[in-house]
Amino acid sequence: MAAGSLTTSGTKFRSGFSPLMAGVHVSPFPDPGHFGWPIEQATEFALAQLDYILQTLSAPADTAAFFVEPVLGEGGYVPANQRFLEGLRERADAHGMLLVLDEVQTGFGRTGKFWGHDHFNARPDILVTAKGLASGFPLSGIAAPSALMEKPGPDRRAAPTAPTRWPVPPRWPRWM
Ligand SMILES: Cc1ncc(COP(=O)(O)O)c(C=O)c1O
Repeated sequence: MAAGSLTTSGTKFRSGFSPLMAGVHVSPFPDPGHFGWPIEQATEFALAQLDYILQTLSAPADTAAFFVEPVLGEGGYVPANQRFLEGLRERADAHGMLLVLDEVQTGFGRTGKFWGHDHFNARPDILVTAKGLASGFPLSGIAAPSALMEKPGPDRRAAPTAPTRWPVPPRWPRWM
């Protein structure tokens, strides 16, 4: 249900499952090919639409996080860009929201750098990774600074098992 709510690569993953998880709003990705615009225009449009959503649909105080892939995978292999990810970072920092980078497809060297977001000098609060992590073996990971991981507290965990606690520094080392 949650995965179907978050994906926007096509209706095939959602069709027949509505209503999906509430509280998910979708903002445009700066895809110059889709809009037929230069990348700068597509990026300003995407950020303006995000601001519009924050003004009209989901107040910053009610918005937990932005989820984005540094390069769209199923969505057509479209890279984000530095200005767009900076714009997300600025808004997240300004309002206490989190920037979650989905590196399920892009992590572990699959874009030519270790992380897809290394191309854009971006800084996630939470990073989600899988596929290239074990190259076929079903393994996935979620990484965040320990201060963030510990926020919910053991008594408020939804899952019965504790996550593996790796010490993750607040800034991602380039070799990770
Ligand atoms: C970019 C990206 N994020 C997330 C997922 C979701 O993976 P799963 O539904 O296996 O958790 C996928 C699956 O292909 C993906 O490509």
